[in-house]
Amino acid sequence: MSALFQPFTLKDITLRNRIAVPPMCQYSAIDGRVNDWHQVHLAGLARGGAGLVVVEATAVAPEGRITPGCTGIWNDNLGQAFVPIVKAIKAAGAVPGIQIAHAGRKASANRPWEGDDHMAEDDPRGWQTIAPSAVAAGANLPKPPKAMTLEDIARVRQDFADAARRARDAGFEWLELHFAHGYLAQSFFSVYANQRTDAYGGSFENRSRFLLETLAAVREVWPEHLPLTLRFGVVEFDGRDEQTLPESIELTRRFKAGGLDLLSVSIAITAPNAKIPWGPGFLGPIAGQIRREAAIPVAAAWGFGEPAVAEKALQNGQLDLVLIGKGHLANPHWPYLAARELKIDNPAWVLPAPYAHWLSALR
Ligand SMILES: Cc1cc2nc3c(=O)[nH]c(=O)nc-3n(C[C@H](O)[C@H](O)[C@H](O)COP(=O)(O)O)c2cc1C
Repeated sequence: MSALFQPFTLKDITLRNRIAVPPMCQYSAIDGRVNDWHQVHLAGLARGGAGLVVVEATAVAPEGRITPGCTGIWNDNLGQAFVPIVKAIKAAGAVPGIQIAHAGRKASANRPWEGDDHMAEDDPRGWQTIAPSAVAAGANLPKPPKAMTLEDIARVRQDFADAARRARDAGFEWLELHFAHGYLAQSFFSVYANQRTDAYGGSFENRSRFLLETLAAVREVWPEHLPLTLRFGVVEFDGRDEQTLPESIELTRRFKAGGLDLLSVSIAITAPNAKIPWGPGFLGPIAGQIRREAAIPVAAAWGFGEPAVAEKALQNGQLDLVLIGKGHLANPHWPYLAARELKIDNPAWVLPAPYAHWLSALR
C-alpha cells in the first residue's frame, strides 16, 4: 500500500489518508461571511477523497483580511455561519479544519484577479493596516502600516483566542494558525518587517514573543484532544537562511513545548530580495530537517502535485502529510487520480463508498 493512503492520527483525530487540502482563499465572502460558494467549493474538495480540508485564511479581525472578500470569524455570527460547511466536509468523510489569520501590512488589498495590489488611498473599501513597525511590504503593497502599540498586540492576541473558540464552537476539528507568508505573525518574526526596540523586536526571543504568546492564548481555549497546528515560513531564500533556519527550528521546539501538534512548513515571504527555488517538492528536505530536529509531525505544500513526488516525500520521511493545493482546484478527485497513477489495487476505494462501488470496475 502506498504511503499516501495510510491513515494519520493526531490527538483524537484520524485522517483517512495523508492527503490534505491546504487553505486557499476564495476572496468571495461579503463582510467576512461565508456563503454558498464556500460550501460548494469545500464540500467538493472533501468529496474528492482528501483526508483533511482546511478552510482558507479566515480573519480574526476585520482589518486582518487580505481583501474585502476574505472570510472572517471576528464575531459569533460569522463563526456559526461555518456550521453547514463543517457538516458538509464531515459528511464527505474528511476532517474539517480552518486557518485563522491576520494579514497585517499585507491587508487592504484588491483581489488577485483585480490587481493583487493595495487598494488606492481614496478607495472607500480600504482600511489602515497594522504591523509590528511602520514598514511597508513594498512592491505592489506600498501602503505604510501603523506600528502596533502594546494594546494593539494584546488585542490581536485575544482576537486569535476568540477566533479559535468560535472555530471550536462551529465544530472544526483541526485548527491552523496562519504564521506564514509575510502576514502579521510572520512579520513579527521577520528581521525586515520588525524594527521594534521593545520586548517584541530585535533579538530572536523578542521576535518570537508575539507568536508564542498567541499560540499560548489559543492553547487555552482550543480543546486538548484536537490537533492544534500552525503554518510558518521557516526560510526566506534571501541568502541568510543559515541564520533563519536554526532560529526556525528552535522556535518550532518552543511551539511544541507550547502545545503545538504539527507544523505546516512554508515560506516566510518578507524579504525584499528572496530567490525562491520553485520546483517539485522543493520544501521537502527542509521540512524533513525540521521534522527530525524539532521532533514534530510536519506538512508542506508547493509543488507536490505529481503523485510520485508526494508519495516519495512521505516514503523518505520528509513529511507526515502532503498538502495539495492547485492540484485539487484542477481536480477535486486528485486522490483518486493519484491512486490510479500509483497503480494502487482498486484505486476507487480512496473515494467515498457511494462513488467507490461504481467506479471500482474502472481500475
Ligand atoms: C487560490 C489560492 C489561495 C491561497 N490561499 C491561501 C491561504 O488562505 N492560506 C495559506 O496559508 N496559503 C494559501 N495559498 C497557498 C496554498 O495553501 C499552497 O501553499 C500553494 O497553493 C502551493 O501548493 P500547490 O503547489 O499544491 O498549489 C493559496 C493558494 C492558492 C492557489
